[in-house]
Amino acid sequence: MYTISIISSSIRTGRKSHNVALYFQKYLSDHFSANVEILDLKSYNFPLFEAPLKYQKSPSLDVLEFKNKIIASDGVIIVSPEYNGSFPASLKNVIDLLYEEWHRKPVAFSTVSSGDFGGLQALTQLQFIFWKIRAWTFTANFPVAKVQDKFDDYGVPTNKQETDDFAKLFIDEFFECIKSSKK
Ligand SMILES: Cc1cc2nc3c(=O)[nH]c(=O)nc-3n(C[C@H](O)[C@H](O)[C@H](O)COP(=O)(O)O)c2cc1C
Repeated sequence: MYTISIISSSIRTGRKSHNVALYFQKYLSDHFSANVEILDLKSYNFPLFEAPLKYQKSPSLDVLEFKNKIIASDGVIIVSPEYNGSFPASLKNVIDLLYEEWHRKPVAFSTVSSGDFGGLQALTQLQFIFWKIRAWTFTANFPVAKVQDKFDDYGVPTNKQETDDFAKLFIDEFFECIKSSKK
């Protein structure tokens, strides 16, 4: 059974991308035998880190917990809003917190916007950064445009069949990537 972490990146009050994280948590639990947990950056409420974890003298317990959850994950799904053509500072804060922990880690991206383009500018940046940090990424992704119309606040999609069909293509590739990472 795979252990999957979903990083929910928006820390904004009234955030909508978190609903996509809730959707994936349920979708994965319903369709696959996987341990799925949302690592919610709003709940963690991390400070802006001065340095990567390995250089921190006395890291807090929740920072160590976050690191251990990433290490224990067979794969990580990043759910990120697009802010001004990029991803939020809350997410960069935890990417740069770690280093070796990301190496060869299968990482999948779901970018989310209220506009028409599903956060595709944030997506290209995330692909580059995770390539740079030596994670294992792949081409399939799960952009969500007009998120306010697509999911309710419990993560229930407006069009379940269409959403599940699209999620399947994405998750199948993610699981192939995880499988390959074990060889
Ligand atoms: C600072 C900021 C910048 C934003 N920039 C964009 C943008 O460039 N393109 C876009 O489609 N939506 C943009 N949005 C809207 C978000 O995509 C929208 O809030 C969406 O629900 C995802 O973010 P959330 O999870 O924080 O709600 C922006 C929102 C904020 C707060």
